[in-house]
Amino acid sequence: MRKPDVIIAGGGIIGLMTGWMLARAGVGVTVIDAGAPAATLAAAGMLSPSFENALHGGGGALAAFSQESLRRWREIAPELMEVSGVDLDFDAGGILAVAFDDFEAAAFAADAGGGDYLDRAEALAFEPSLSSSVRAAWFAKNDGQVDPRRARKALERALIHDGGALIRGKRVAGVARYVGNVAGVILDNGERLSARHVVIAAGARVDGVANLPKGAVFPVKGEALAIARVAGAPKRVIRTGKAYLCPKADGRIVIGASEIKDDWSLNPDERRIGALHACAMAAVPALEDAPEIERWAGLRPATKDGAPVIGPAPEGPDGLFYALGHYRNGVLLAPATADAVAAFIQRGRLSPSIAAFSAARFT
Ligand code: GLY
Repeated sequence: MRKPDVIIAGGGIIGLMTGWMLARAGVGVTVIDAGAPAATLAAAGMLSPSFENALHGGGGALAAFSQESLRRWREIAPELMEVSGVDLDFDAGGILAVAFDDFEAAAFAADAGGGDYLDRAEALAFEPSLSSSVRAAWFAKNDGQVDPRRARKALERALIHDGGALIRGKRVAGVARYVGNVAGVILDNGERLSARHVVIAAGARVDGVANLPKGAVFPVKGEALAIARVAGAPKRVIRTGKAYLCPKADGRIVIGASEIKDDWSLNPDERRIGALHACAMAAVPALEDAPEIERWAGLRPATKDGAPVIGPAPEGPDGLFYALGHYRNGVLLAPATADAVAAFIQRGRLSPSIAAFSAARFT
C-alpha cells in the first residue's frame, strides 16, 4: 500500500472506479466506504445512453460524456475482469426500447441517438418475448448492461491488487484544510488522515463534505425487484416508458425502477413494486408467473438540473474535487468520470468533457 496522495470519500462505483484508475497509474489512493447502502448496489446496471437523454439534464455535453463512458466500459471491462478475477456479466448486446402508445413512441423517437426504429412486426420478430400489443421499438445496438454488484466487487479487488487501499465502515465527516489547500479528511470518529487531494464521491450523502448550495444534490429513491428468468424471458434489456427489464447471467431479471424525490427511506413500497411488476408484465407476458427473488430500494444522487457535478470545488480549497450527483447513470458514467478525475490529479488537466458539470453552475 502506498502513502495516500488521494483520499476518495465514497465506496460506490464512482469512488472505486476512480480509485482503481489512480492506483493502476501508480498514485497512492485510499477509498473510504462508510458502509451506507450505495446507490451502486441498488442499480440495475444499464449502460444506456441512447434512452436517457430525455430523462437527464446537461444537454449535449451529458450525451457526449455518456457515449464516451460507454466506449470506455467496453475497453476496461475485459481488463477489470482479468485483474479482479470477477465476471462482471458485461453485456454489450444492445437495448430495445418498446413503445405501447403514442406518448411513449414520441418520447423514444425524440431521444437523440435513440437507436434504430423497428415497426411492430419487426419488433416482434426481433424479440419474440414481447407482448403483441407493442406499437414500435428502437434498438440501440451499442448499449448494454453490467451487473453493478459484481462490478463493485471487482473494483474493490482491482483497487487493492493495484496498490490502493480500502477503508470500510468509517465516514468522512469533513475536509481538513491548511491555508488554502486540502490537508486530508476528518473521519466521523475524529481520526484525521492526510492527503494532498480529496475526491468527494459520496452519492446523495454529501452534506458537510461538499460545499454545495442547499438542495443542489438530493436523493431520488428508486425501488426495484428481481424475478426468476423463466422460459420465454427476453434475451436482452427491454425498456418501456414505465419500466425496464434487465436479464442477468445469474438467473435474475431485474425490473426497475420508481422515482421518489427527497425520500431517504430504503423500504420498497408494496404498491409501487406491484405497479412496476405490472408494467413489466405488460411488455413480456410470459414472465407473469416467474417467482420474485428479491425487492429493494436505493437512493439516486440527483442534482437540480439532472447532470452530475464533476470538477474542482469552485470555492476551494485547492485539491478538493467533486465526482457526485450522477443521478440515474452512475454505473454508466463511472469510467469517464474516473478518467476526468485522474487526468486532473495526475496532470492538472481539466478535461473539456466535464466543463459543463462544474459545481459553479449552482452559484
Ligand atoms: N438507470 C436507471 C434508473 O436509475 O432507474
